[in-house]
Amino acid sequence: MRTAGLDRAAGAVQGFLGTDAARKITQLFGDSATFDFSPYRAELIFVDASHAYDYVRNDSAKALALLADSRGVIVWHDYGEWPGVTRALDELAKSDARFAKLRWIRGTTLAVLDRRS
Ligand SMILES: C[S@@+](CC[C@H](N)C(=O)[O-])C[C@H]1O[C@@H](n2cnc3c(N)ncnc32)[C@H](O)[C@@H]1O
Repeated sequence: MRTAGLDRAAGAVQGFLGTDAARKITQLFGDSATFDFSPYRAELIFVDASHAYDYVRNDSAKALALLADSRGVIVWHDYGEWPGVTRALDELAKSDARFAKLRWIRGTTLAVLDRRS
């Protein structure tokens, strides 16, 4: 595991190379199942890594733990499109009170959990 700046930028991050915003971005590399998120906190989290059921369950739990004081917004991509994502989020919404406010954004493949209040 290591931390890198934009020298190994990939995917969407590449779009910021050479801009003022690049200095504000730190790209972290690792497997979300084993990555140590404990030093980090966030107010907005976008979950869009592995679409396998077990990973989505794990990534969702990690995302929740990342919210500072359990407050903030989590957005998942590919809900309703990838079976692992859809099943994991449907189950969490029904079985875990912390995810009870999970909602699909109609007309999109996004699901959102708004825990700002
Ligand atoms: C569907 S793409 C999302 C791309 C991303 N939203 C973007 O705009 O660059 C999934 C990305 O998650 C990465 N990925 C897949 N499984 C992962 C895992 N277990 N841990 C971390 N990243 C993973 C893939 O390598 C890929 O870059």
